[in-house]
Amino acid sequence: MNKEKKKLLVTNALPYANGPIHIGHMVGYIQADIWVRFKKMKQRDVVYLCASDAHGAPIMLSAEELSVEPKDLAAEYTKQHAKDFTDFLIKFDNYHTTHSKENEELVNEIFANLKESDCIEKRTIEQAYDEQESMFLPDRYVRGTCPQCKSLDQYGDSCEKCGATYKPTDLIDPKSALSGKPPVLRESEHYFMKLEKFESFLKDWLSGIELHESVRSKLQEWFEIGLKDWDISRDHPYFGFKIPGEDEKYFYVWLDAPIGYLASLKHLSECDPKINYDDYFSEKNESELVHFIGKDIIYFHALFWPAVLEGAGLKKPDAIYVNGFLTVNGEKMSKSRGTFIKARTYLEHNNPEYLRYYFAYKTSPGIDDFDLDTKDFLNRVNSDLVGKWINIASRSSKFLNQHFGDKLGENVEESLLEDFESSGDEISDLYDKKEFGQAMRKIMLLADQANQYLDQEKPWVLIKDEENKDRVLKVCTTSINLFFKIMVMLKPVVPSIAKSGESFLNVEQTDWDSINTRLLNHQISDYKPLLTRIENENIEAMLG
Ligand code: MSP
Ligand code: ZN
Repeated sequence: MNKEKKKLLVTNALPYANGPIHIGHMVGYIQADIWVRFKKMKQRDVVYLCASDAHGAPIMLSAEELSVEPKDLAAEYTKQHAKDFTDFLIKFDNYHTTHSKENEELVNEIFANLKESDCIEKRTIEQAYDEQESMFLPDRYVRGTCPQCKSLDQYGDSCEKCGATYKPTDLIDPKSALSGKPPVLRESEHYFMKLEKFESFLKDWLSGIELHESVRSKLQEWFEIGLKDWDISRDHPYFGFKIPGEDEKYFYVWLDAPIGYLASLKHLSECDPKINYDDYFSEKNESELVHFIGKDIIYFHALFWPAVLEGAGLKKPDAIYVNGFLTVNGEKMSKSRGTFIKARTYLEHNNPEYLRYYFAYKTSPGIDDFDLDTKDFLNRVNSDLVGKWINIASRSSKFLNQHFGDKLGENVEESLLEDFESSGDEISDLYDKKEFGQAMRKIMLLADQANQYLDQEKPWVLIKDEENKDRVLKVCTTSINLFFKIMVMLKPVVPSIAKSGESFLNVEQTDWDSINTRLLNHQISDYKPLLTRIENENIEAMLG
């Protein structure tokens, strides 16, 4: 694969517009945003897209409960989510919705192509039906006793206790979660995507893309079980797009959701003349397509979606990056333990860049879950960002301000600057591979080095003797340059602090190469604290 294809299209999973964003969701969005910001600093031509996933049964049912239209509820959440992302400094080039005319047109077009290329088949199936509510029940809306381990009150698709998977109708004593009545079986005609016939294509395609080993072995298990044809239709009532030529049938949300990536691009291309839609998704194009997703939706992105793209004659992804799940203080997020932290609640009490740094620090490739340990979070951020990095500037700017009118000199500790400059490539490589955790550790080792230098030179002692003035200027000029280089290295993670740093240092928009720039005989501004420490109160308030 040609890694440096000209254009790069990056997407995040489209969050369901039927509830608030929580900090678990934020993992994948923060990781992708860091990577995109890094790529942009490296002058790659990147488009970064997302949208809200507006359709499906759960949103229809929530809307019903609130006596509002599902489209209005989705629109309300879409607005909220977009604001949450903006406030976490997630900078999408476009945030659209799957409930849009662009998406409907694309879904119809792709469906027509799939039919044309003989990928679709109609079949009559039997499904659980709630006679009181007059609707077919999604698997999750049937509950009963697990046929395998006999645990009570399990979902219709799988058992949380023993992990068995089955059909809702296999449950012992099944009940509708809506009416509480036992469902009946009813026949209905459905559209199926013939996934089975894509098996060899999928294996082939997967062998050529960038994918972590842990994801590959997951996929291998699914191939061993065998691919099953995929039901892409749903009966009325449902919130989604109507299937052309049908009165009472809709496309299943998971068909139109990934097509939402294309719709978001289409919408952007209609607003921005510099973006040409066809540059990104036609088979011939020169662009690279990268999806960031959570580990629970691998099946959809690595099997269903590429099969749809292949069937419709469109370009397939070049890489899929999968994040593990976030736990809070070692446990699954839970409302009763106060560890279900909404993005908005976090933002009310804490700086978004603390979390961006902590998630970066905890990131390693692969799909292992990772923990937000609130004590570790507080210590890590205070010790690394404030204690190590920001401290370099606050320790040295004082002397520059008091004795040199905030003006840097021209002498520096050459070897130290060279050390930092030559670390740039290694750190760039780590960012590129999404080894953000390793990148943060490397950067903090550099910060340690800068602080050790200040500890050795002791400008606060030197300054007492007029004769040492040049030496103090050299020490402070060196330190500010080291601070500056680290700032550039951290910029993808903490863009807003970096921006304040730029204005403190009187430098224009920095990019990755700025690591090699030296600030000599250069006027900076008065130092103002760039970041404050997290206090226990902030954490407690966030946990509620
Ligand atoms: N709507 C689908 C995605 C459609 S993409 C065409 C969806 N939405 S979601 O709102 O449930 O999840 C959005 C993203 O957040 C997914 O990538 C999901 O894996 C991720 N996460 C949800 N909970 C998470 C954690 N606790 N931890 C880490 N990621 C989490 O899935
Ligand atoms: Zn069971």
